[in-house]
Amino acid sequence: RFVYCGGNYVPEQDARLSIFDRGTLFGDAVYEVTAVIDGRMIDNSLHLDRLERSLAALDIPLPCPRAEIAAIQNGLITRNALMEGTVYLQISRGAADRDYRYADTLLPDFFAFTQRRAIRDTPAHRDGIAVALLPEPRWARRDIKTTMLLGQVLAKREARDAGCAEVWFVEDGMITEGASSTAFLITRDGAVVTRPNSRATLPGCTRRAVLDLCARHGLVFVERAFTPQEAADAAEAFLTSAGSLITPVVRIADTIIGDGNPGRLTRHLQRYYLDAVL
Ligand code: PDD
Repeated sequence: RFVYCGGNYVPEQDARLSIFDRGTLFGDAVYEVTAVIDGRMIDNSLHLDRLERSLAALDIPLPCPRAEIAAIQNGLITRNALMEGTVYLQISRGAADRDYRYADTLLPDFFAFTQRRAIRDTPAHRDGIAVALLPEPRWARRDIKTTMLLGQVLAKREARDAGCAEVWFVEDGMITEGASSTAFLITRDGAVVTRPNSRATLPGCTRRAVLDLCARHGLVFVERAFTPQEAADAAEAFLTSAGSLITPVVRIADTIIGDGNPGRLTRHLQRYYLDAVL
């Protein structure tokens, strides 16, 4: 597999990153994951918009023009003959001797790689998944897509031990989002509900695409926070992310959602989404 590192495409075993990279030492780095279907990136302009917002929030300069980033992502897809999977990219503040304070002269480290895997038509898409509920473990700026992911790593481990494929976090009695996905429910009268964007959650690109699909197909959607109890009482539930697109949720903690199968409107949204991107 070719990866992009240090300004070049190199075989993955030849990639070199300084141990003083601030991404490694402090989690002082941002990342993006873009879905690839049939060799094409999905919603990548939304991902690059968010990348620019994350970098600006941390005062890290863009390592190269935006068009060049997209060209590098496509360069990897071509070199690795990737048809379906994801492209990951990471930009850190750069490398310097360890010091919490940073110089404004650092040059960002930028690397990227592809991952080959099914992201549609998986067992999770067909049958739905279970999600666990756990207290929100993260810092207060979850709108920035940083590589500080230890809260998510530990929560996903705990969820897996409980037989769940994802975890939804709860803060002040409300669900924030999934460890690596946006949480949605569909009410009994057919409204698609997800939390409004704020510093409490990552503004999902797939979320944006789903709200656009709702508008286009005449589905009612409402942006508001919801409680675990509302989610348990919902007609349907699902989650979205670039790594898994639209995945039905059929159990939340101990509560079966609907009849335990993916819901009808969730199925429609899955189809609308693939029709829109293919
Ligand atoms: N995660 N919320 C969080 C906390 C996420 O980490 C992600 C994505 C999302 C969904 O965002 P999008 O639809 O733009 O992928 C929401 C990526 C896929 C990851 O960490 O692998």
